[in-house]
Amino acid sequence: LTPKSLQGKRVLVTAGPTWEPFDPVRFITNPSSGKMGFALAVEASRRGAHVDLVTGPTNLLDPPFLSTHRVKTALEMDRVVRDLAATADVIVMSAAVSDYRPEETAPQKVKKSDRDLTIRLIRTPDILAGVGAVKRADQVLVGFAAETENLIENATEKLRKKNLDFIVANDLTRPGSGFRCDTNQVKILDRGGQVDTLPCLTKNEVARRILDRVETLLQKVDHE
Ligand code: C5P
Repeated sequence: LTPKSLQGKRVLVTAGPTWEPFDPVRFITNPSSGKMGFALAVEASRRGAHVDLVTGPTNLLDPPFLSTHRVKTALEMDRVVRDLAATADVIVMSAAVSDYRPEETAPQKVKKSDRDLTIRLIRTPDILAGVGAVKRADQVLVGFAAETENLIENATEKLRKKNLDFIVANDLTRPGSGFRCDTNQVKILDRGGQVDTLPCLTKNEVARRILDRVETLLQKVDHE
């Protein structure tokens, strides 16, 4: 693999959490830092790809030499990803998208009262499944699965349901894995049923391993 091994390829990466507001100053979210997605975007760019990074709110700075698209909600992320997906050769979705959002967003800050407050949550679109449904044979699509139980079973089901080439599965109960860490211990599951258990690595190194696999798949589609 040469350093510019993704020259001429367009890579779309999603990263970070989403914020789902129920009033102007409050929202539902999760602890995703965006580090895994940013590491993927930077590494793809270093390999010569044209990179679009679509990220929810994070403390990370826009990386140089690539296009960073900042969004807040799942609906915004969905819109931007749909715009960019058709022209992408590689799509890697590492964002921790909120599965639910408040049905209504109050225009003003909700005042407290003596009564309890109920917020009705409705589903957000599954962005990755939407992309998987229209994926072409010449595109490589990669997803993530963060699980607290039945890691392999759940990840395998997502791989098939969302029409992915491979899925990066993350056991959230392990120390040194998942949200906010600089390291990650993942398993990579492919369509052939192979499971590759990687050691605990930095997120930068996990990004390199993922893109090595992407390049192998691209070489196959380029020859078909
Ligand atoms: O189904 P689950 O949320 O566990 O799947 C995780 C994968 O799907 C990740 O790659 C994540 O980025 C993506 N996803 C998405 N849109 C959602 C939910 C998950 O793109 N609404």
